[in-house]
Amino acid sequence: MPITPADLLRMKQKGERIPMVTAYDYSAARIAARAGIPLLLVGDSLGMVMHGHGTTLPVTLDDMVRHAAAVTRGSGDAMVVGDLPFLTYANEADAVTASRRMLAEGSVHCVKLEGGAAIAPIVRRLTELGVPVMGHLGFTPQSQHQIGLRVQAKQAAAAKQLLEDALLLEASGVCAIVLELVPAALAKAVSERLAVPTIGIGAGAGCDGQVQVWHDLLGLTEGKVPRHAGRYAELGEVIAAALGRYAEDVRAGVFPKPEQDAAIDPQELQRALG
Ligand code: KIV
Ligand code: NA
Repeated sequence: MPITPADLLRMKQKGERIPMVTAYDYSAARIAARAGIPLLLVGDSLGMVMHGHGTTLPVTLDDMVRHAAAVTRGSGDAMVVGDLPFLTYANEADAVTASRRMLAEGSVHCVKLEGGAAIAPIVRRLTELGVPVMGHLGFTPQSQHQIGLRVQAKQAAAAKQLLEDALLLEASGVCAIVLELVPAALAKAVSERLAVPTIGIGAGAGCDGQVQVWHDLLGLTEGKVPRHAGRYAELGEVIAAALGRYAEDVRAGVFPKPEQDAAIDPQELQRALG
């Protein structure tokens, strides 16, 4: 059985920090499960890192369901969270429809919605209906045209609002809240005031867990990488070097090697060729 919202609460109570990473396909999910990552996020960041869009806004529910279904086939005991895409949860009916598809067709265990007070009634309705929900506050990429690409809640009023939103989301039933691009001291204070875990990204080590985008964490992102990104491998370099050696061997005629060939009885061949 995958881990549940109750397990997340227990992890926080025991002071166990929670690692989370995004995954967008079956093979990535298998590797993450093997590494013992308890929480996987099928993030709408897939629009950028997998499909090459400039933002998460063009991502469709079909995109999310397809990637989610691939991830959940390989995720083992991890809890898989799937983002609801931009404007697919603007009212309760839409949110229910989108969540049904993510859980029934994508087989995720939890959906993630961006926003505070405006979506609290929707979060309440989903959780009443048995859908685990994760919140997402601070920098919420789906509203980037409104809020800009920057650290959020640096002024007292916005910081107070973020704390109030977090408490309201908790009261509405979320099992955890992602805090993205929030000052570390504020994220720590919010984490201390919530029963449910916070999962930070660019929000300091005072959060109850951390989430990173697969491509950033593993060195697969080309160009500008966020300051907060952990860099635990340079897989882009590793893959490019391997492909370079492969191409060289093909050009030189030394791949494949004779021992990799399938044999045919010489008599059979002679009969065929005449
Ligand atoms: O889509 C995503 O990858 C996310 C994380 C950055 C939290 O929402
Ligand atoms: Na996202």
